[in-house]
Amino acid sequence: MIRRPDMKTMTLLATVSLMLAGCSRHVETMEELTDRVFSIAQEQYKAMDENLTGTTMPRTAGKDGNLVTSDIRWWCSGFYPGSLWYIYEYTGDDAVKGLAEKNTWKLEPLKYTGTDHDLGFQMNCSFGNAYRITGDPVYLDPIRESASVLAARFSPVTGTIRSWDHTRPGCDWKYPVIIDNMMNLEHLYNAGLLFGIDTLKSVALIHANTTMTNHFRPDYSSWHLVDYDPLTGEVRLRQTVQGFSDSSSWARGQAWALYGYTMMFRMSGYDCYLTQAENIADMLVRRLPEDGIPYWDFDSDRIPDDYRDASAAAIMASAFIELGTLSNSPEKRNYIDVAERQLRTLASPEYLSAPGENAGFLLKHSVGSLPDNSEVDVPLSYADYYFLEALLRFASLDRSGSGR
Ligand code: GLY
Repeated sequence: MIRRPDMKTMTLLATVSLMLAGCSRHVETMEELTDRVFSIAQEQYKAMDENLTGTTMPRTAGKDGNLVTSDIRWWCSGFYPGSLWYIYEYTGDDAVKGLAEKNTWKLEPLKYTGTDHDLGFQMNCSFGNAYRITGDPVYLDPIRESASVLAARFSPVTGTIRSWDHTRPGCDWKYPVIIDNMMNLEHLYNAGLLFGIDTLKSVALIHANTTMTNHFRPDYSSWHLVDYDPLTGEVRLRQTVQGFSDSSSWARGQAWALYGYTMMFRMSGYDCYLTQAENIADMLVRRLPEDGIPYWDFDSDRIPDDYRDASAAAIMASAFIELGTLSNSPEKRNYIDVAERQLRTLASPEYLSAPGENAGFLLKHSVGSLPDNSEVDVPLSYADYYFLEALLRFASLDRSGSGR
């Protein structure tokens, strides 16, 4: 005769089977996650090109879900070709390579225009990646010309490259320099190395040093904008134009700072940049939310009911991975762990667009400029670019935690 189990035994059996089910649930590996994201990117970024006319570039998605494009002069014009190069690098898909080439060459006319500092973003993500991946010398001329034009924006009086030529209503700027400008130094330093031009490297080093002196608070958070007197080099103003307040920590600005000093250490080998990057990283690790995605400004008074910025998370993740490979700090493993958490959150349905949504962009929930009510809680081309870059960097880590 079969005895029916009593209530206690039934509860025990149910608990054990639940535990077994939990144990057997597969946790996606980072390799699987990276494959998944790149195969979505491969399809969506190819389709995106069909919606581009003339020399336009993808910028964001409109409220109707349709693609919003920009002129090549918009500061983000290098991110679409740059993302295509990354997708080609991962997949080897020749159709993607063809689109990467086509969209890179759209930017060639920029090589003679020096209307703001963003030339570094535009030309390094496109032509810089093209040359790095293919080694084809055809890409060298636009890199060299544009680096010279960018370096011409440097003033030995201020010790910086001027960011914007314009001012804004109500803003009395004479020589504004924003923390984002650290990102343009990669293009200069790279060109200095490629062509053996020491002045390009020197301009990058002096700009990084001046920014280290004037842009940071004692806790290693950064102001967004420092305005200089162009005649004396004195600091006139410190502001956080795209953030919550002048004294707040605008999330993407902190991400540019982390990435900028990590990159400057990689390029130059000078320890002061590594120390600066580690100090910024430690400040961020202390302040980031559990899931790794910062609010658009760390000091907004609406937290926790406020917007996150996926773009800042993606830039930080890429920088944290690189820093983890360069640092000797006891925190180095933690930098990679934080990056992995950020990438896993970004690759979850909360942040990764469903195929066909958001005009083909990968990530949702970025913030362009909240004070300007511009591009709030939308996909942005640079969020995708740094997300793909971070995944490539994570994929090239070896087991001991060091990668490229
Ligand atoms: N470089 C402009 C921005 O981060 O919004």
